[in-house]
Amino acid sequence: MCGIIGYVGPQGTDVTSILLNGLSRLEYRGYDSAGIAVLTSAGSLELHRRSGKIANLADAVENGSRPGQGTLGIGHTRWATHGRPNDVNAHPHPDCTGVLTVVHNGIIENYAELRQELQQTGHTFCSETDTEVLSHLIEHYYFHQASHDLVESVRFALLRVTGSYAIAVVSREHADLLVGARCNGPLIVGLGEQEQFLASDIPAILKHTRRVLILEEGEIVALRPNSVTVSTLDGKTVQRGPLIVEWDAEAAEKGGYPHFVLKEIYEQPDALRRALLGRIREGQLHLAEMERMQRTGLFDNVQRVLIIACGSSHHAGMLAKYIIEQWARIPVEAVTAAEFRYCDPLVGPETLCIAVTQSGETADTLVGIRQAREQGAPVIAITNVVASAITRLADAVLYLQAGPEIGVVSTKTFICSLAVLYLLALYLGQQRGRISNEQANTILAALERIPGQMQHVLDSARSADDTIEPLAKRIARVSSIMFIGRSVGYPTALEGALKLKEISYIHAEGFPAGELKHGSIALLDPDTPLVAIATSSHVYEKVVSNMQEVRARDARVIAVATAGDEGIRRHADDVLYVPETLEALSPLLAIIPLQLFAYHAAVARGCNVDQPRNLAKSVTVE
Ligand code: F6R
Repeated sequence: MCGIIGYVGPQGTDVTSILLNGLSRLEYRGYDSAGIAVLTSAGSLELHRRSGKIANLADAVENGSRPGQGTLGIGHTRWATHGRPNDVNAHPHPDCTGVLTVVHNGIIENYAELRQELQQTGHTFCSETDTEVLSHLIEHYYFHQASHDLVESVRFALLRVTGSYAIAVVSREHADLLVGARCNGPLIVGLGEQEQFLASDIPAILKHTRRVLILEEGEIVALRPNSVTVSTLDGKTVQRGPLIVEWDAEAAEKGGYPHFVLKEIYEQPDALRRALLGRIREGQLHLAEMERMQRTGLFDNVQRVLIIACGSSHHAGMLAKYIIEQWARIPVEAVTAAEFRYCDPLVGPETLCIAVTQSGETADTLVGIRQAREQGAPVIAITNVVASAITRLADAVLYLQAGPEIGVVSTKTFICSLAVLYLLALYLGQQRGRISNEQANTILAALERIPGQMQHVLDSARSADDTIEPLAKRIARVSSIMFIGRSVGYPTALEGALKLKEISYIHAEGFPAGELKHGSIALLDPDTPLVAIATSSHVYEKVVSNMQEVRARDARVIAVATAGDEGIRRHADDVLYVPETLEALSPLLAIIPLQLFAYHAAVARGCNVDQPRNLAKSVTVE
């Protein structure tokens, strides 16, 4: 949800290239307009803004007046909240004098009052954005109360603001100073040699440094070529050491694949291995992260589990409901975070809350978890992003260890969320004495076989015998597809449908297979195919009956089935096979052909697979 980049360094640097390159790594966060401001060595603050993708901005910069070399600059890629995605609403937003300029990710909730107040004192607004109030508010303090001290002006301004923000601010009068601040929006500092970087996310700065300082909520940072100073909004200095990022810039590149999404689908066997790494040792489960919770007695009174998440993470949570209930015999509810807070939730110390959020920044999930915490619930966070906002709200954090996911839609983070939830379910099952060592060994051994089995599905999809791409190309012309499944096949159907609609824009709906006949079957006709999750399971026969009902309506049926099940061909027009595993683990394999199916359908329809319309990777607004 908007990406920010900032740079400060020695005279004569090609700041424009650094900013454009950084923005291109952040484009997954928003891509409806983009802009940069560069303070050139001649002392002018040059601003370029364009609606559309970063390529539009880059063209405008290269074909227009490319800013000369300089010392300082900020850039932004936008996912519009306030104001249409046009050139004027694109960031950076200058103040009235042109001395200051600001980029912002988040929402200033009291912007209307502030705008009115600032207009009454003579400020002129050019855009419809909430961000522009920050430019004028900082201007007000800069020229009046803070005597041109940029850090103090930002501090004064932010004390007036409610809402969420990550910002970067520069002044034409301070060629060696870049100021950033965050409150409920991600912002990191990249520490270089005589140069410093500010960014919404690590991939934007990986080319330059792997030493990263994570800012906490309510902190302001002053970056100068040779120093970085962090302080709180109330002026206290903060000391914090850097993190060393373990992955390199290559991990955030396409690596020869035409799209990040395809690369990330193919990375899933390795991502899954990393998610399991260190957590299964000599066939035994080791969840060190849970031990502290266990020691402090946070599990002692747990009587139910609540999984709070959105989108694909919610689907992983829905799957975990089946698994935790089966393995640990605790009642589980999986709720969509955006609704959780409105149901006046009944949670307390007896409710273990699990937040699943690959980005760690999803506003709906953060708000829900904050509320659960306030009511005394113990919280476990499952996330891919080290030190992200959710980690500060949790008693224990289980990292996905999936590596960077740049494609906007979740693929490998879905698989890894699921893997971590399986481990957690097993932990709870063992802890409650519901899973014997023998059962645990069987499950862990099956889990360890999954990466190889996934690789088999992926390799077949690249071979001459591939059936997924030709099928997707044929189906790409339809306007609607249904997905059905029972038990763990149901959330798998939901996730398959979500992948398809997100990237191909084909209308897709997932249903519990038995529910179809209660209304939605009316939508079926020869032009509306249906995908059935029909892998081996205790509900297999029932799913097959539902497929027969569908075929009786002349709809085309595509089955995802277990290798060796030749009988399924009598009930389906097309079959996508996956290897056999335990029923509980089958979604880890069944989702792979559905991801590939969605990918190839989207490519056949000419869609932008990595950056689908209207979406953003990290949704930091409610
Ligand atoms: C789907 C997708 C979204 C996210 C959702 C939650 O492909 O990416 O549905 O799953 O926005 O995001 P996180 O997991 O970051 O909280």
